[in-house]
This record gives sequence, structure tokens and C-alpha cells, in this order.
Amino acid sequence: MYLDPDEERMLAGENGETRQKMLELLVALGKVFGAERLVRIRSAQVSGASYKTIGEYGLAWLSSLDARAVVPAVLNPIGMPRGRWQEMGIDPVFAARQQAVILAYERLGVNLECTCTPYYLHETSFGDHLAWSESSAVSYANSVIGARTNREGGPGALAAALIGKTPCYGLHLSRNRKPEVIIELKSDEKEWGIARYGALGYYTGKLVGNKIPYFQGISPDYDQLKALGAAMAATGAVALYHVNDVTPEAKKNQFDIAGLEVIRIEPAEIDQLFTDIPVDAVAVGCPHCSPAELADIARLLKRKTVTKPLYIFAAQGIIEKNIRIVNAIEKSGARVFADTCMVVSPVMEQYTAIMVNSGKALAYVPDMCGAVARIGSIEECVAVAIM
Ligand code: F3S
Repeated sequence: MYLDPDEERMLAGENGETRQKMLELLVALGKVFGAERLVRIRSAQVSGASYKTIGEYGLAWLSSLDARAVVPAVLNPIGMPRGRWQEMGIDPVFAARQQAVILAYERLGVNLECTCTPYYLHETSFGDHLAWSESSAVSYANSVIGARTNREGGPGALAAALIGKTPCYGLHLSRNRKPEVIIELKSDEKEWGIARYGALGYYTGKLVGNKIPYFQGISPDYDQLKALGAAMAATGAVALYHVNDVTPEAKKNQFDIAGLEVIRIEPAEIDQLFTDIPVDAVAVGCPHCSPAELADIARLLKRKTVTKPLYIFAAQGIIEKNIRIVNAIEKSGARVFADTCMVVSPVMEQYTAIMVNSGKALAYVPDMCGAVARIGSIEECVAVAIM
């Protein structure tokens, strides 16, 4: 693997032991995956922020590092909202250890945003190289923005944040970004909302595994694309997809799709995912809500009071910028939490059936929260919460 003179000096330890070790890690990853060189990144998103996942060993490792991020970097969602953990009934001992993890990242120059939607916080553009970890964020960056990132593990993303580079292989290379299977939807999807795109992603991910799908016959907006990609990354391992005439690389490139396998999906196959089982809580914001989604929820909750717990999740920076909308939502009794989510927070484990508007949550809630999951539109979610 080629290293430029600056990288060679860093590898020899001239920039300190932490950067030396981090570069060793990136070079080792690069060699495993056949990278020819490193590439500069615009930002990083680091998983491994939850104390539940990394424990004392991980905390000790983070505390031993001595360098600061040289590109904007954020964290993945953690098990609790940092400012409101008491309200969620989080164990104080756990909260203290989680706080220690967060402070260790802060010392490394990582921005204390814990979110799967870093694209709402740091400008990310077509062609940017990134080192992001969370699967829905990776899917959005690659597919909707046309940026380039592999799905990084926590240490690899942190190393990339501290060095400002990542090994150039996989989805960083144009030759690995071409469609591999065509998905044709036999439906007039004009009335489809976010949940139905999430359900389509849930269904498609199981069919395509880790192939790159090329959708024909749909025209989703940004929030619908977010839902589609997040679900495909959950039930499959889709890190990049294209939508004919919609996503940037599909618009820019004349992909040669002749001869690719075609999978035709009928609307009834998606409809059967929507049930009407009774639920005891409702959760929205997987992936974390956009400003438009928050505004929509506020509109639906106007002059209403929730009778079931309604949890909404969004990035702290988005909550702060939309505080009037968030206050309007919370007036109904619903709660808008930052830093965490319905899947990683232990608070959802107290419920037996949870309604969501996300295909990814539909896939993860049963295993991660031990509850039955039901998917519905945002209108249906709010209607169930105020029933
Ligand atoms: Fe984000 Fe948690 Fe869903 S990390 S994509 S809200 S499972």
C-alpha cells in the first residue's frame, strides 16, 4: 500500500504514539481489503459510543488515546439522552459510566452529537469521501448524497477521524458502485409515505442481501429515501442503492443495466407487513427525525393529548434548531429525545408491543427490545398514541 512521505513519518511515530497506532490500524485494514492508498475524508461518524457495548475495556482504551480529530466527527446514538437520562429512568451507575465514555470522546475532539443522521449537522456533498459507521447513515451518504463511505467499525472510524484519511477501497471506488440487481415496483406509489418506503426497504433487503439495487418505478423524496435505505441496510446489508431518475449517481451516470437480474415486487407483498395489532407504546425517529418530520408530527399533535407513551428521536442539533416545534410536540405529552433511539435505549424494553413508522425499527425492535413491532404511517402512529 502506497504511503506518502507525511504518512510514512506518521507511521514512524513522528506525530506521537496515538497517531502512529491509528495509522497502523488504517494500513492494516487497507491491506486486508486491497486498498492501494489512503484517501482524505470530509467527516467521520464513530460507533462504539454506548457503554453497554464497549464496557470498561473500551473506556480504558479510549482514555489511553492522546490525539484530536482533524475532521468533523460525531458519535452513533447511545443508550440515554445525555441531558434527560433521569426522565428515562436510566440507572445512575450506568449513566455515570456512559458519561465517562462521552467525555473520553470529547477529549479526542469528537463533537458530542450522538446521531445516525450526521448529514443534517455537517455539510456532506456529492463525491465526498467519509468514514461513517451507522448503516442507515452509510446508506444515505452513498445513495442519496452520492458521497463515498464503507461501513466502518468503531475503531476504524475513530482512527480515520484522528488521521483525516481512510483506506481507499470498496465503495470509495467508482467501479464498486454500479447496480447489481433491478427492483421493479408494479404500483402507482404516488400516495406512499415514509412508512411504506420503510416497508419496501424491509422487504427488499431480505431479497437482495448485500447487492446494490437499482429501483425503477418509484420517486421517493428525501425522508422516504432515508426510510428505504435504513430498512434495506437492516434486513439486508445494502450500503448503496440507486433509484432511476432520483438518486444522484443514477441521474449522472448511464448505468449499463442490461442483463441484470430483475425482481418484481407487487404492492400486496408490501401491504401484508401492515397489521393492526394492539400496542402499548409508539416510537418515531428511526433514523432520527428530519426537521420536516418533526414539523409533520407537531401538526398532527396540535391540540391533542397522548394517551400512550409516544417517543420521538432526533439529533440534538436538530432539536435545538427546531425548539418551538419540539415544545409544541411535547405539549401533547409526547417526548422528543436526543442522543439515543428506540432500539439502543433500554427504556423501550418495558413494552410488549411497539408501533413504529420505520422498516428498520420493524426489523430490530423484536430482537433488541423484546417487543412485537407494528408498522404504520406517521398519521396512524399519532392516531394510536392519542386514541
Ligand atoms: Fe438510528 Fe437507532 Fe434507527 S441508530 S437508524 S434510530 S436503530
